[in-house]
Formats: sequence, C-alpha cells, structure tokens
Amino acid sequence: LNLGILISGRGSNMESLLRASIHEAYPAKPRLVIANKEGAPGLDAAKRFGIGTALIPHRQFDDRRAFEEELHKALVRHEIEIVALAGFMRVLTPWFVGKWEGRMVNIHPSLLPAYPGLDTHARAIAAGESEAGCTVHWVSEGVDEGAIIGQARVPVKAGDTPDSLAERVLIAEHELYPRALADACRMITAPSAH
Ligand code: GRF
Repeated sequence: LNLGILISGRGSNMESLLRASIHEAYPAKPRLVIANKEGAPGLDAAKRFGIGTALIPHRQFDDRRAFEEELHKALVRHEIEIVALAGFMRVLTPWFVGKWEGRMVNIHPSLLPAYPGLDTHARAIAAGESEAGCTVHWVSEGVDEGAIIGQARVPVKAGDTPDSLAERVLIAEHELYPRALADACRMITAPSAH
C-alpha cells in the first residue's frame, strides 16, 4: 500500500517507518512525507531516504478546512492508500477524518485510553503510575479515541522525569509503530479515499 506520513517536527517515528519499509516484504511503501511546519527536521531525514516531501504550512490557510483540502489533494495526487500520523500536532476535522476513515493511523505516547492529549508523561508520573507506554490506533473523530491496533509497555522508574520517561517510551514507539502499521495494512477493508 502506498504510504503517506504526516509530521510536524523531529520525525523519529517517521524514520522508524522508513527504515522498516526498506524491506521488500513490508506491506507499506512510503511515497510522501508532508510537514505542516517549516523547518521540521523530519523533512530533511525523509529526503535522505529519497522519499518525496511536501511542506504545507497550516498558517498559510484561512481555516482548517482549506489546509486539510490541500493535504488531501497532495495525498490523492500521490495515490496514497494509508496515512500514518507521526508526531503530527494538528487536530484533524471530521471532514478529513471521514475522507481517510479506516485508512489513517496515529501513534500516541501513552497506554490509551489513559492520558489522551498532551503532556502524557508528566501526568503519568504525577499520578504515580508504575507503567507507561505507547499506542498505535486508527484515527477517529475524537482525539486519541480510535480503535487500538497495538500497544507497548515500559516501566516508570523511581526518579523519572517527563524527559527520562519520554525517552524510554520513544524507544518503544520506534519498535511498535512499524509492526502496528504492518498489522493495520493487513486489516484494511475500507474503500480507498480516492
Ligand atoms: C512522539 O512521542 C509521538 O508519540 C508524539 O510526539 C512525539 C513525536 O516524535 N505524538 P517524533 O517527531 O516522531 O520524533
């Protein structure tokens, strides 16, 4: 399946997907990486992998819908069949989510349904959790609410800070995402968005 990846920043999860997809048998073939933020370091990393990139800065659009129409057009133009959000920090409207329903996945740095939204690591530490982790899920209208495809767990250790916990979870994210995306590809039944 032709894969499109949406990023906003560093793109380390994107890189883990690009690395996995080098293997011939991997079911997703990255065709396009789109960033919504100028200077997103992930764009340079994608170029190093020889993947086509596009910058679609949300700030240049009057509203969310106009931005998303541009995103959608770019994905369709590249014949994208599955979309992976990888550190993509824009909330998507029901219009866009509807277009890609059953064909768009996200990675979130918590054991959903616990700690949706931002600052998950600080909240998990403050709550005294002994375990943290990450989740790959289908994207639905509610933020971080879609059906879960896979999760990975890591311990919360004594003295953890949000940064030290984030680092441990990120290692788990890089291992989980390629595996869960491959599972998602095998599950696809929804008609193509284009
Ligand atoms: C990851 O922890 C991801 O789960 C969260 O934001 C971070 C993005 O990191 N949504 P990267 O851009 O993939 O390096």
